[in-house]
Amino acid sequence: MIKNFNNCGYHIEKNIYPKSIDKEIFFIYYDLGISLVRRNKINLNFEPKKIENLIYPNDIRELDKLLIAITNIDYKSIGELYDTVCYSSTFLKFIGNSKIEKIAKELLGLKNYSTVYCYLNRILIQAPLEAISSAFKQGAVKKVYGWHQEIMYTMPDTRLVATWAPIIRDTTTEHGAIEICKGSHKEGVFKASWNEIKGSTTQILVDEDIVNRYEKITIPMKTGDVLFFHQNLIHRSGRNLTKEEVRFSLVAQWNDCSYIGFKVPLPVFKSRTIGAKENFDKLLSQKKN
Ligand SMILES: [Fe+2]
Repeated sequence: MIKNFNNCGYHIEKNIYPKSIDKEIFFIYYDLGISLVRRNKINLNFEPKKIENLIYPNDIRELDKLLIAITNIDYKSIGELYDTVCYSSTFLKFIGNSKIEKIAKELLGLKNYSTVYCYLNRILIQAPLEAISSAFKQGAVKKVYGWHQEIMYTMPDTRLVATWAPIIRDTTTEHGAIEICKGSHKEGVFKASWNEIKGSTTQILVDEDIVNRYEKITIPMKTGDVLFFHQNLIHRSGRNLTKEEVRFSLVAQWNDCSYIGFKVPLPVFKSRTIGAKENFDKLLSQKKN
């Protein structure tokens, strides 16, 4: 495994996490989607199926329908789903999966007692672009599917192994499976451009002539599989070309805490509504005695 990882820049571990995680995450998304509709007063133009009547995986399309509708009506609220899911207890079971942790440490050349710091853990939701055309009319920005290196998208001066895993449903080529440039991790950081995109995240894209030098491999994956890849491996996610199936992918970065440059980032949480002082004043004003 390590020899192959060092040579190609990636390793796929098949069937490493249990199907029960997919099922739990499916229900989390549906539950949060339904409560988000209620909490944010989103007017759906259909009656979503009751969560009690859903069967996983038969009803994945019900979740697609709900998430696509929310994106089209109020695309900004999808951010709340992202930020809730990644701190949900089920998501943390994935991060806490001892088999995944073991491989991440082995690939970093660490001992089993070494500490790894999981950073930028997220489940990315990628709906087919055609299905969310109303979101673009509201001002949502189309995502760029550019070739990049993970080391550009993390804390400064760190050493990490990245993971990418399909969740809820398999990721086929049509769903926009991850693509990699085989062996591109061996030459350190490449020449890249810094692209600030209004209303979206900054894209740091490796120059095309460099990307063209490498063999590209598209990696369709089944739920349960996890792709581990080197921090310098050039990669990108593909376009979701399906008509109405959302792609769910779980990404995480496993940082080596013993690395000389490692300096843990400040955990900054910012309220989406009022600040602490305003909340304090509000609570006191509501006090009855
Ligand atoms: Fe990436």
